[in-house]
Amino acid sequence: SAAEKGGHDYFMLKEIAEQPRAVADTLLGRVGADGQLVLDEMRLSDQELRDINKIIVVACGTSYHAGLIAKYAIEHWAGVPCEVELASEFRYRDPILNRDTLVVVITQSGETMDTLMAVRHAREQRSRVLAICNVNGSTIPRESDAVLYTHAGPEIAVASTKAFLTQLVACYLVALYLAQIRGTKFGDEISQVIEWLAQIPARVEEVLRTVEPVRALARSLADERCVLFLGRHVGFPVALEGALKLKELAYMHAEGFAAGELKHGPIALIEEGLPVVVVVPSPIGQRVLHDKIVSNIQEIRARGAMTIVIAEEGDSAVAPYADTLISIPAVPTLLQPLVATVPLQVFACELAAAKGHDVDQPRNLAKSVTVE
Ligand code: AGP
Repeated sequence: SAAEKGGHDYFMLKEIAEQPRAVADTLLGRVGADGQLVLDEMRLSDQELRDINKIIVVACGTSYHAGLIAKYAIEHWAGVPCEVELASEFRYRDPILNRDTLVVVITQSGETMDTLMAVRHAREQRSRVLAICNVNGSTIPRESDAVLYTHAGPEIAVASTKAFLTQLVACYLVALYLAQIRGTKFGDEISQVIEWLAQIPARVEEVLRTVEPVRALARSLADERCVLFLGRHVGFPVALEGALKLKELAYMHAEGFAAGELKHGPIALIEEGLPVVVVVPSPIGQRVLHDKIVSNIQEIRARGAMTIVIAEEGDSAVAPYADTLISIPAVPTLLQPLVATVPLQVFACELAAAKGHDVDQPRNLAKSVTVE
């Protein structure tokens, strides 16, 4: 009913709107008054976490995209080697696992069969398993050594939105906590980022207040057959997530690429009028990558692409090459996915609605995939 949806047309829109609160709840009680992180619910001792020499993040779908972003944070802040793998591939090769490997599984539902089988496989090889999960007492946290709950609240729409943002927060907390207990060369940056996290709900709110033009754009593209998404660094998984949302909801061919790969193949796809969404790194925090992606945008535009550019507010260097410019607030580099993903969720939701699709229950999909 409309009441259940809190006045929104779809659960998905309600859940998109709940993201500032979901992020705040996931941070609640985890940052001490002294600015130190407190994660004692984790059931792994600091000594156990210090002994870890490799992390493998394992998940499916949107949760896998959160894992791809976690890798950047874990390797940069904590300095621990990190791999990311699709749960459905993990146990069918011969992953090198031992006592000193931490397997981090990410799952909204806690019931995804591929991910559960990965947990069992990792524990058989004596690896420690940490679950990042949204559903209390679900199977995967029960079978894991440790759990860090996200507090997104119930997610009803099949397409994951608020669970994704809170998974990112949980991943950042794990990376920052590992840095805190293991020591890191980025001490000052770590305390600044921890302070910054408290600002994120307000920044996401700001994005939500400014997405009206994204809605109009989505409606205008309802008859397109294909949309490409480009990004690099943490913007690359954001591009993958934007494409997945559009596939799930709008049943359109949508593909995410690392912008640096364009010249190795995907640029051949560019043709007159093709909508291409580009997630642009900060011109200040990531000047080198920013400039490279601005050249990519010029290249694809010269070949006729319609450029839809998600860029930090005040990024005047990219503006001349954007057919549509979507501004997002400036936040620390690794945190950018928390604000950059939101317009892509709105974009997919609105485009699917314009096509007359059931946004909350897309065809052929289930909220939790309990078969392999
Ligand atoms: C997200 O929009 C999808 N519906 C799907 O990819 C989902 O993220 C995936 O099935 C994993 O689910 P989980 O997080 O509950 O394990």
